[in-house]
This record gives sequence, C-alpha cells and structure tokens, in this order.
Amino acid sequence: MDRIRIVGGNTLNGSIPISGAKNAALPLMIAGLLTDEKLVLENVPRLADVSLLQRILGNHGIDITVAGKRRGDDAYAGQTLEIDARVIVDTTAPYELVSKMRASFWVIGPLLARMGEAKVSLPGGCAIGTRPVDLHIAALEALGTEIEIDGGYVLARAPKGLKGGRIVFPKVTVGATHTALMAASLADGETTIENAACEPEIVDVADCINAMGGRIEGAGTPTIRIVGVPRLRGARHSVLPDRIETGTYAMAVAMTGGDVLLSGARADLLDSALDTLREAGAEITVSNEGLRVRRNGAGLAPVEVTTAPFPGFPTDLQAQLMALTTMASGTSRITETIFENRFMHVQELARLGAHIQLDGETATIEGVERLKGAPVMATDLRASVSLVIGALAAEGESMIHRVYHLDRGFERLEEKLSACGAEIERIAG
Ligand code: EPZ
Repeated sequence: MDRIRIVGGNTLNGSIPISGAKNAALPLMIAGLLTDEKLVLENVPRLADVSLLQRILGNHGIDITVAGKRRGDDAYAGQTLEIDARVIVDTTAPYELVSKMRASFWVIGPLLARMGEAKVSLPGGCAIGTRPVDLHIAALEALGTEIEIDGGYVLARAPKGLKGGRIVFPKVTVGATHTALMAASLADGETTIENAACEPEIVDVADCINAMGGRIEGAGTPTIRIVGVPRLRGARHSVLPDRIETGTYAMAVAMTGGDVLLSGARADLLDSALDTLREAGAEITVSNEGLRVRRNGAGLAPVEVTTAPFPGFPTDLQAQLMALTTMASGTSRITETIFENRFMHVQELARLGAHIQLDGETATIEGVERLKGAPVMATDLRASVSLVIGALAAEGESMIHRVYHLDRGFERLEEKLSACGAEIERIAG
C-alpha cells in the first residue's frame, strides 16, 4: 500500500489548480442514467471514486468513455466523460459495489424513474457515522414508490411510474435531496421538496438536469419545485470547482504560512470557511483567477466553529480546520453536528503532538507551539488530509499510511503541494 512521506516546515508558495468537485461529479455521473441520450461531463476530477463509479455504472450496462486530452489542455485539466445509458441491462446494485462507495446507493432514484424498479443494496457501515438511508426511502415513497427491505437490499417498485408529491425532509440531507431531485425529474406531475439541502453540488446537478430538459426551480434554496417531464435528453455540463479541495489547500497555506493562488476556485462556494480562515489570521483575496491565500509571520488565532449544512461551515472541512487550530495561540472549539463519529483524526493529530480533548460532539483544542512528525493513518478521506496539513507544519518527518483514502478525493495531492515547495513524496508499495 502506498504511503506519503512529508518533511514539515516549509512554507507554501505558488499556485494550485483546483479540480472539479468530487461530490458534484459523482451525482452528475449518476444523473446520466436519467436519459437514453449521451450526457457529456467536463472538468471531471481524476479520482479513485470517479473510476470506481465508472465501474459500478458499467455494471448497469452504462458505457462511459473518457475523451482524450485536447490541444491546449494543461496537466491538471479535468477529464471529459461521455455517459451513454441508452440501454440499462441491470437494475440491481449489488452489495459488493455499494459497500465500496456509499454514493452509489443514489442510483436508486434514476433507475426507478427510468425502469420502474430498482434493487439496491443497503450501504452498510461507515467510518464517520451510522449514515442511514431512511430519508432517501421516505422521499421515494412520497413519489408513489412501493418499498420493501429484504436480505440487505432495498427493493423499490413503481410499475405505473412515479407520481409528483410533497417531500418534507425532517433534517437536511444532501444525498436524499439528490435522490428526490433525480426521481422527481421524470415523475408525472409536480413535486415540492421542503428543507432541501442547499449545497452548491445540488445546484450543479439541478443545472445539469435542466440542461437535459428538466424543469427544476429553487435549487440552492430550502424549497425546490420540480415539474416532471416524460423524458430527458442528452446535454453537456461542466462540473463546478471543488470547494472542499479549495478549503483544504487554503487551510494548508494558513497552517504553514506562505502565499498561494488557488486557481479556478470560487469564493462564493465557501464563504463561511473563508470567514473562519480570516479570523484565524489568513489573508484572503478574491480575483478572476481564483483565491489567493496568504499568511506571513503572524501567528494563528484560535476559533470557535460548529459544522452545519450549507451555507454553514462544512463538515468536510472540519478535520482540516482542527489540524490548523492545533497550532493556534489559545483554545479553539469545534463542534461536529452532521456526523456523530467524525473525530477519527483526533487521536492521530495527537500523535503529531496536538492537545485535543473530546467531549461528545465538541473538540477543545489547546494550541501548541510546535507539532512533531510521526507515522499516522486515518480511516476516511478528510481525516487523512488533515494529517497531511498537520505534517506539513510539523518538525521532521511524518509518514501518512492508507493513502488510498486521499486518492478517493484529492487529485494528485502530492504533486500540487510539492509544486508549492512542500517536501512531500509518495512511496509506492
Ligand atoms: C454528502 O454525504 C457528501 N457525500 C459527504 O461528503 C458530506 O460530508 C455530506 O453530504 C454532508 O455535507 C457526497 O456528496 C458523495 P447527508 P451524504 O445525507 O449525502 C443523515 C466526503 O468526505 N441522514 O447530507 O451521505 C446522515 O446520517 C463525504 O466527501 C439520515 O439520517 O450526507 C447525516 O447525519 C463524506 N438519513 C446527515 O443526515 C438519510 O437517509 C447528513 O447526511 C440520509 C442522511
């Protein structure tokens, strides 16, 4: 298994290109199932999760071709995927595949909408929390689906097609909002989703479905209205930039000091995280090219943050912020409200010398003057990258194990960071 070796202490200076958003690319690929025409997705990041979803969709009979590079494309240009779901040969998503990537459960909405049935494995356990799928199921039931749970599978049937309905989510859920949007787009009649997730990735998927001939209004607000259409057509759509990758590198620069342009980043996708970074002492400026993050000399100030659905502080940046606060001059407090077990990085950051105390959903971080390199590992993607951030600022060498977590969500992380002066290398094997 690959490892990443980091010798900390260098500041970061230069430019980091921001890739397309993983959490938009995955549902957009799944939205390709909604049409029998070709959906072309541009700016798709090169990530293990994208390749895995390609294989999973292949299992349903979907052809996905990756277009070659075009003249003028730079090394980090995203890939273009052509998704052809003309023929769906199998409406079952088996346990072996869904358990490898939870988001593949989301095929349930489009399979049902197009084929009138779907048999999708329950995703099973997860490192960051229990993550049930009850709200996906409730949304589909509100659209007239008959649901049966049997042998670890959700059997969903709508033999006469889906009917528009009213979906009121008791809590904000990104995944179930995607499921509801996709299913309702091909339902008969009008659907209203209340307390919908407002995440930018929802807006991106809604924009794509609208380009396919869908009629969705209000995406990005808590109330979404969808008028179902009998069929959707092909389209071309470019994936929006990854706000979590953006926030992660912004935190890395705030941690090490330096001056980095995050090219292609969109500030409006992460206002709340940028406010927190400014409070911690980073200087952030926005231009047409992207975001410039600087911190020179001055120490880091402590912060108090509670994760929340968009536009609040994202849970997907919680671990990275915690790494940052380990060296702040004072006491920070971070409360995680989205996932109950998303603190696996705490013990690993402690191995680098961090002082963190956990009490239920709140972590209290006593800033220390220095961190010291150590071997570390993590059990999920964002926790792993928080260790990279810690290691970049720690004295001496750190070895990050289980790099496959990083590969799920960060395209060529070590190349992007070493181009800005970090001493970081991947060791194969
Ligand atoms: C998406 O997961 C993201 N994944 C996650 O990113 C992200 O952390 C999360 O949204 C929150 O922003 C993708 O986009 C692929 P939710 P999702 O449904 O949709 C509960 C990363 O690192 N819930 O918004 O699965 C759930 O347990 C990942 O890139 C139910 O109770 O998250 C959680 O407490 C990890 N029942 C809360 O809602 C349900 O049926 C929010 O989860 C569904 C969710």
